[in-house]
Amino acid sequence: MIMDGNGRWAKKRFMPRVMGHKRGLETVRAMVKACIERKIEYLTLFAFSSENWRRPEEEVTFLMQLFMLALENEVSKLHQNGVKLKIIGDLSRFDAKLVDMVRRSEALTASNDKLTLTIAANYGGRWDIMQAVQSMLKDHPDLAAGFNESDLQPYLSMPNAPEPDLFIRTGGEQRISNFLLWQLAYTELYFTDVLWPDFDGKELDRAILSYQHRERRFGRTSEQLRGSEQLKPPDHA
Ligand code: IPE
Ligand code: IPE
Ligand code: MG
Repeated sequence: MIMDGNGRWAKKRFMPRVMGHKRGLETVRAMVKACIERKIEYLTLFAFSSENWRRPEEEVTFLMQLFMLALENEVSKLHQNGVKLKIIGDLSRFDAKLVDMVRRSEALTASNDKLTLTIAANYGGRWDIMQAVQSMLKDHPDLAAGFNESDLQPYLSMPNAPEPDLFIRTGGEQRISNFLLWQLAYTELYFTDVLWPDFDGKELDRAILSYQHRERRFGRTSEQLRGSEQLKPPDHA
């Protein structure tokens, strides 16, 4: 999910943009609960893009503090609810204290399996592919001569997650904004004008219903699909 529209939500209410982010955190809580109730096993949220550093300094600082506060306050509750927490993105630009908190939260929840909640922070899809190539070549210099998708896969940010079935972007914009570029190759896209602070379980069901009416062909023809069971993405290896 790309959680977009916080600023506009606040502006409509004559409030500072950051109040929209604060209210947006409540939608995050609601979505975690909604996914668990619906037995959705993976939820990946775009919280801060590598481009969001371009925002006014006080907004960036507020977002970092909110992130830290959320980790502090929510992790034990997430743990109790069987949520495995993962943070993806380039953490090298973050405060050491925040990185430490991230690592401890991941370690605490590592063996949970009800819902894998991945938060993308200082994440960019291009960065993900680049860092994967670099780490792969560091481990296997011989692959510089040539490699395939299955060589690269383990080095991408979510190596153990299935490819996403459904992408949701709130806030009305119809773009990917450098989110999971590699992983979204065959994902169904859903865009809604609802602003993130207003997104709720009912809106999630609307998105899921739309998904259920899609025909995922993965390159095949409609006729080939008829009568056969749900097909998986093709293996490019
Ligand atoms: C998304 O809401 C939250 C982040 C990018 C952190 P925005 O802050 O982009 O809200 P709009 O798009 O300005 O309404
Ligand atoms: C995308 O939202 C990133 C996050 C939701 C974290 P933006 O609001 O920053 O996206 P653009 O720049 O308008 O595409
Ligand atoms: Mg936005």
